[in-house]
Amino acid sequence: MSDVRLPKAGSIEISPSILSADFASLGSEIAEVEAAGVKLVHLDVMDGHFVPNITIGPPVVAHLRRCCKLVFDTHLMITDPRKYAKRFVDAGSDHITFHVETVDDAADMIAYLHDLGVTAGVSLNPETPVATIEAVAPLCDMILVMTVHPGFGGQTYIDAAARKCIRLRELVGPDVRIEVDGGINPDTVARVVGYGADTIVAGNAIFGENDRAAAITALRAGTGR
Ligand code: DX5
Ligand code: ZN
Repeated sequence: MSDVRLPKAGSIEISPSILSADFASLGSEIAEVEAAGVKLVHLDVMDGHFVPNITIGPPVVAHLRRCCKLVFDTHLMITDPRKYAKRFVDAGSDHITFHVETVDDAADMIAYLHDLGVTAGVSLNPETPVATIEAVAPLCDMILVMTVHPGFGGQTYIDAAARKCIRLRELVGPDVRIEVDGGINPDTVARVVGYGADTIVAGNAIFGENDRAAAITALRAGTGR
């Protein structure tokens, strides 16, 4: 892989989800969290088919690419990720996560993403067991554990889903990132870090607050690291 931008596993990273940001001011919203010192930004892509909501596509990603240097942590909640992945890579995505429920051959999709020059991740819905990705988990650069049902920001964290991080961490060891997504706030973040997550997506807990830097500081403090 040429230009790997996802930070190496070992650090705790916060990836603000734009889903709770002001979509009329995405550039300045992202600039605020960049100034607060995060390295990633989480771009939620929804197609109205795999999930009952619609968000952004490659043209928006391409425009955002010109506004900031953050690692674009792109979460594809779409039915046919293979068909659209290259367009997101061309638009400037650095890391692409697809849902295991959306592909026939997850290993092949991961290899395809690596060939496109980006880091690759597979995601599990809350009800999808770890067994579905056991074989491919070590091939990922980051695994995304959904801790809400995907589709909307501001939902309540599901601890039973987060606990899958424990088994995943046993499976992949310390070198693969484990990301959690949904309902993470300064109270729930300690739990997920305790289960082995090292990459924390937060939408409402950051963009729902007026002071985004303070919200990020509160999340970092909650990790205890
Ligand atoms: C949900 C998305 C999440 C969501 C997280 O489908 O994948 O990234 O925006 O938002 P919060 O942190 O508000 O639950
Ligand atoms: Zn997401």
